[in-house]
Amino acid sequence: MHRGALLRSDSLVGAVAAILCCAPARAQATQYKDAPPLLVGAAWYPEQWDEATVDRDLETMEAAHIHLARVAEFAWSAMEPSEGHYEWAWLDHAIAEAAKHHVYIVLGTPTAAPPAWLTTKYPETLRMDENGQRAEHGNRQQFSFASTKYRELAHGIAQAMAKRYGHNPNVVGWQLDNEYAEDSFDPDARAQWHAWLKQKYGTIDRLNTLWTTQYWSQTYDNFDEIPARPKEENPALLLDWRHFVSDTWKSYSENQISAIRPNADARQFITTNTMGWFDGFDSYVVHSVLDIAAWDDYVSTPVFDWAPNAAAHDLTRGYKQKNFWVMETEPAFVNWRKTNNPLAKGQVRELAWQAIGHGADAVEYWQWRAAMNGQEQYHGTLVGPEGKPVPVYAEVEQIGAEFEKAGKALSGTTPVSNVALLHDFNSRWAIDFQRHAAKFDPVEELVAFYRPLREDAQGVDVISPTAALDRYKLVVAPALNVLPQATADHLIAYVKQGGHLVLGPRSGMKNEYDALWPERQPGPLEELLGGRVQEFYALEEPVTTTPVVDGGAEGHGAVWAELLEPMNDATATIAKYKPSPGSAGWLDGQPAMLTRQVGKGRITYVGFWPDAATLAAMTAGWLKDADVAPLLPNVPEGVEVCERAGVGRVLMLINHLTESKHVVLPAGMTDLLKGGSVSSVDLEKYGVAVLEAAR
Ligand code: GAL
Repeated sequence: MHRGALLRSDSLVGAVAAILCCAPARAQATQYKDAPPLLVGAAWYPEQWDEATVDRDLETMEAAHIHLARVAEFAWSAMEPSEGHYEWAWLDHAIAEAAKHHVYIVLGTPTAAPPAWLTTKYPETLRMDENGQRAEHGNRQQFSFASTKYRELAHGIAQAMAKRYGHNPNVVGWQLDNEYAEDSFDPDARAQWHAWLKQKYGTIDRLNTLWTTQYWSQTYDNFDEIPARPKEENPALLLDWRHFVSDTWKSYSENQISAIRPNADARQFITTNTMGWFDGFDSYVVHSVLDIAAWDDYVSTPVFDWAPNAAAHDLTRGYKQKNFWVMETEPAFVNWRKTNNPLAKGQVRELAWQAIGHGADAVEYWQWRAAMNGQEQYHGTLVGPEGKPVPVYAEVEQIGAEFEKAGKALSGTTPVSNVALLHDFNSRWAIDFQRHAAKFDPVEELVAFYRPLREDAQGVDVISPTAALDRYKLVVAPALNVLPQATADHLIAYVKQGGHLVLGPRSGMKNEYDALWPERQPGPLEELLGGRVQEFYALEEPVTTTPVVDGGAEGHGAVWAELLEPMNDATATIAKYKPSPGSAGWLDGQPAMLTRQVGKGRITYVGFWPDAATLAAMTAGWLKDADVAPLLPNVPEGVEVCERAGVGRVLMLINHLTESKHVVLPAGMTDLLKGGSVSSVDLEKYGVAVLEAAR
């Protein structure tokens, strides 16, 4: 598809005006006196080194324009070597010395790594797996997130830290724990699970009805009979287990927040570091009690693909709908993949600017230097074991210098988009409990819909389906499998107000208890669509679709196809399935895509998982109809355009390709990295340009 075909000559002017009107006044993730608006940082472990080494580390950090260090998140035994006995000298020194070098501190509460004295004295705090096996001391994350005793001890250390550092001018914020992940099935967790169910359902009869427990004789007489299981169970139970886990991580956070907040300045933010697409809990729920979102951005594939990473940034931004931090990212390589091949030279910078482009205000490298022993000796660092720079240090130094140059213009800005992609943990869980087609990975499907949307609109918000939608011209829900009535009403209101809602396959099948809606898909949106899904099919072979209107192109899809049925005259069939091995006879000549105009709004249902080219063509059409034009016309494919707007407007062009590209700008802009006014830019491979538009 030729992207230039989408453009109107006045698109840039229109887009700018639209964006400036809507940019939130207070965009930045955090605001504190004197600190640079964009921060480069590193995870740093002063508890492992003597004071002279700590001091030298800080000099080397400052030389690379590093203004941020996260410390202490695994240092419980250094801070509280025995119960109630605290040692702060090493941390006092590190924080005070950091201040001299203009390195701000994020303090991690150390609860992801309880000390040996703790787990020895209180073995009931150890996590228990589903089969009753307790974790042992020695790794990390060996605690139970539900343990009453553990929470008491976690509160204790968090409070002691906050009392000491809550008013320290050099401490800018707090990270709770580290990468929440592991469920526990210990007696405390089970008791809380039963209490949680009782609180949610009131009576066991109500639960039996909503869970359809007549199935396989699951009917319960009381809440205590209900098993705690993360898999191979009634989908209603599985979904509620994930809700229980989400609420438990939320209250785990609240426990520590209640220790920190009364003892800390309001300017110190409280967050935790999440893991991109990780779905162990509902991040929207957990973030409801946090000040900002932060995530750990690691490239998990041998070759970096810009789109899933871009979408994960947008996902994280969507948790609080404001700027976020990248709390950890790799200094070229990690140690936990099968083969830990490095990012190519230049790609660490490419990733850093992609993060900023998507709304990060800080990028922190994990880690500054390796521990001399421990499980992560092979992980990438910025300095070697003797404390001198390794090759990637120079690239981080460049990033630090560039953040300083561009920081002022980016201060108070945030990405703003008029296109939203709906992301829903319930739907992801429900599909993953019963994939039906092994290749139907809900995240892959989401990213497939995201990619052309991001390429063409050059800005996408990834948000919860319950978020406010009025500012969006186009809302795409790739597989909104779980669709409670209240969310459906919210979407209906959006369409009736003139928005365009696109639903992907598997949408509107279940209610909030993971039970089937009695109407067929899209359930409570059937009436609005004036159509429904007659039947769904998992595909072994691809399918082909033909357009109903003359002049359109054939479409191709795989993995999943639904036989659709228009149910009233206002609902148009856009495409039909062509007889092919994949269509298995059932789909031959049947509707594959429906659309219905509703006043000024529209609802469209796509019944299959389209391939990349088909999705690109469809997306171009949806954007054109919704009058969404790219910010920057004629940008070569593979060059990402990111915009942050606020008082001013900054564009970031990021070349994800291995060859250089030339981009012509529609108007003169200030090159914030190289200086001067430019009307076009040359981007070397993995190159970046940061441009300020005239006000
Ligand atoms: C993260 C973790 C860090 C470090 C890093 C290595 O998941 O939070 O502590 O282990 O991985 O890539």
